[in-house]
Amino acid sequence: MSIAGSLHGRTSHTPASVRSGGRLDWAGQPDVFKKYPASFARLSLAELPELRRLLFLCAGLTARRVYGETVWFLRANPSAGALYPCELYVQARGVAGLADGIYHYEPGGERLCLLHGLGEGDGLESCCEDNRRLEGLVLLVSAIYYRSSWKYRDRALRYCLLDSGHLLGGIEAAALCRQEEYAILCRIDRQRLRHCFGFGDQEHAMAMVVLGRRGRERISRLAMELPFVSGTGTFTANPFIEEALRQIGRPVHCRPAGAEIRYPFAAQTLEEAITRRRSIRAFSRAPLLRHEFEAVLATAAMAAAMDCDEPVRILAVVNRVAGMAPGVYADGRCLAAGDFSAMARYLCLEQDLGGDSGATLFLTGGPDNYLPLLLKAGLMGQRIYLAATGLGFGCSGIGAFYDQEAAAFLDTDDPVLYALAVGR
Ligand SMILES: Cc1cc2nc3c(=O)[nH]c(=O)nc-3n(C[C@H](O)[C@H](O)[C@H](O)COP(=O)(O)O)c2cc1C
Repeated sequence: MSIAGSLHGRTSHTPASVRSGGRLDWAGQPDVFKKYPASFARLSLAELPELRRLLFLCAGLTARRVYGETVWFLRANPSAGALYPCELYVQARGVAGLADGIYHYEPGGERLCLLHGLGEGDGLESCCEDNRRLEGLVLLVSAIYYRSSWKYRDRALRYCLLDSGHLLGGIEAAALCRQEEYAILCRIDRQRLRHCFGFGDQEHAMAMVVLGRRGRERISRLAMELPFVSGTGTFTANPFIEEALRQIGRPVHCRPAGAEIRYPFAAQTLEEAITRRRSIRAFSRAPLLRHEFEAVLATAAMAAAMDCDEPVRILAVVNRVAGMAPGVYADGRCLAAGDFSAMARYLCLEQDLGGDSGATLFLTGGPDNYLPLLLKAGLMGQRIYLAATGLGFGCSGIGAFYDQEAAAFLDTDDPVLYALAVGR
């Protein structure tokens, strides 16, 4: 069996595994914001409104919820269980008003924490295959797995990858709003990054996004050696996830793609959709219109400007779309006609969202190149959320589904990577 197949199998849900789930260790609940010590300089983004807006659109705090004494922030990107394993680092070079350096983004205060001033020939480009100097921004997405494994144990491996993909989709959308060219890089030197950022085994570099102009000069070193800083407070190691991340850290046989993404509405609507996006918690069961459903699928299916663009297929259980017979659809064809809403609900761990939706989409792919594959599925998930929001209806990611039963029902040998319900 391929690495991807065995990792996916190990983290599968079955009716038995779901019933045997343990209790949450509330004393071990991880922090969701990483804070570097006060000795690192902070810089308010208030003086840099363009960069502030860009980073807000990528990863900002867009809502707050109060539960008793606890305040919980929701972000531009969805996250399995709202556990937010991802962090965002920013390299700025030649950005007016900002010293060339590598910073950590603090969404709470909308600040940058300076980690390293760039020297001559020094920068994150040295950890990329194309190490030409980048005038502009390099964004690094990482994941601190314990934030998710605290609750989801081994299955958190998927959620860290899917959440990272959502963040990449968020960066893609923010770049589109700003009409900036961007490229997503999965083929990065994760070992060097681990060493230079002091991540240890707790935090893992997932991908980079470059936004700006390439020069000719080669950047061949990263002269930064940060101390380890915990992003969770408490921590319990998960050896399976650490080993899995080591195994999948070097994507192979990559097919790069150019950006084709266009949303079915103007940039202003996209920007509003990013700031308004939420996961719908219940559907009214009113139908979607056929052109709405097709617009969401078309947006999700466009190529991503990724150096390792893995094909991900969408199998849609159509429950309520005006002008379409209920059934299972893929590649523009009906594969099986019938009302499968009860089945879709069951497959989504008996969550009503799966059955009450206009359509429940199952993303499949693989079985190789697990890291870029899951990143791509998450990125497509972000496009589905934003397209649905901009068109005026709802969406929810569904990471919890019965894996083997979903694949059997959908009649596919490929692993089911992720599900999303769209509707109103
Ligand atoms: C990978 C992933 C899996 C998710 N799985 C589920 C799920 O199984 N059921 C559910 O109701 N919501 C699910 N969600 C939605 C999250 O609960 C939601 O994003 C989070 O609570 C934050 O709220 P917001 O999306 O409104 O900002 C998932 C989200 C992501 C990104």
